[in-house]
Amino acid sequence: MEPGNIVVWGTGDLCDQFMASNGSQLQVTFFVDSYKTGEKQGIPVIAPEILRDIDLSALYICSTWYNQIIPVCLKNGVKSEDIYVVMARTFEAIPLNQFERMANGEFYFLPWKKQLADIHRTLSCDIVHPDVYKDIAKSVSYCFISSVEGDFAEFGTCTGYTASLIAYAISFYAQRMQKHETAHHMQGRKLCLFDSFAGFPKATLDEDLNSPHVASGVWGEGTAKGLSALQLRQLVTQNLPEHNVNIYEGWYKDTLSDIPAGQRFAFVHMDCDLYESTIDVLRYLFSHEHLSEGAMLLFDNWYCNRASHKFAEHKAWLTLLEEFDVNFTDLGMYACVGNKMIIHDYLKK
Ligand SMILES: C[S@@+](CC[C@H](N)C(=O)[O-])C[C@H]1O[C@@H](n2cnc3c(N)ncnc32)[C@H](O)[C@@H]1O
Repeated sequence: MEPGNIVVWGTGDLCDQFMASNGSQLQVTFFVDSYKTGEKQGIPVIAPEILRDIDLSALYICSTWYNQIIPVCLKNGVKSEDIYVVMARTFEAIPLNQFERMANGEFYFLPWKKQLADIHRTLSCDIVHPDVYKDIAKSVSYCFISSVEGDFAEFGTCTGYTASLIAYAISFYAQRMQKHETAHHMQGRKLCLFDSFAGFPKATLDEDLNSPHVASGVWGEGTAKGLSALQLRQLVTQNLPEHNVNIYEGWYKDTLSDIPAGQRFAFVHMDCDLYESTIDVLRYLFSHEHLSEGAMLLFDNWYCNRASHKFAEHKAWLTLLEEFDVNFTDLGMYACVGNKMIIHDYLKK
């Protein structure tokens, strides 16, 4: 047999749909079927055992029974890196190495793994921590699946690392959930990014001055200065259209009032570390009712400063609770030092 055969396992509807969209580029040399042999579209249909004699470059599984088929492929000498599973609804061919093998031996496709691989390609780097992305992606997908109204915001953009993860996740779910979004009248969700683009302001309040990170100078004035506003725009518009990205440059206390009255956020990523910065933002968002019912609120640095509740983001949340009655669900810790919650409703005390 010639090396480099392209094989499709399955001869049913999924195979027909996959072949209709990919058949001409792929030049399939064999179909495999456990129950029949012969020909399909002029191409030989072979039994699984024959795979042992074939030099393969790729095998596409076009069957929802892929968990039964994968072990048979492996038993017959197909290398796992040559196996792709074709998704039933999108007809995307996903490499097996993007699936997770569960304790019961079954393979499950976890989209965040593919998204992460795409991000690594887009950003030409592999520094994205899977846990951070997984949690951000889960939170973004929650907003789409649960149809939480409104836009997405991040306070604290610095390197643009988390902003680009959020942008990627928005574009991923917006595309896949288009019909759902239309049905809920929610298209064109925006990403609003807020930063001084000059690093941290000078700390002035005791809740910051006494915190280990400020006292040590790690969160000193002017530190955490990252991309310029233009560079950030260039980065996030790799995944989102220009008109869906709003960048607010300056100190939060000066830029918050630029948020149009009535704009609601479904998702807010707080990553501005300091107590004063965080309470400025929270107080404004809550008093101007910018958070939607069911909004996801993430705090990237909740457990910094040795997880003390006297400083930084954690303390800012406690201060907010003194000023507002907030009905919320605490979803707990995420990634290394983050904490996230869902906001149900709130009222000024
Ligand atoms: C830890 S960094 C953010 C990290 C970022 N998410 C990333 O992925 O690289 C904190 C950011 O908050 C910004 N920041 C903190 N307090 C601010 C304030 N009061 N006004 C504007 N920006 C502020 C800093 O400029 C800095 O970029």
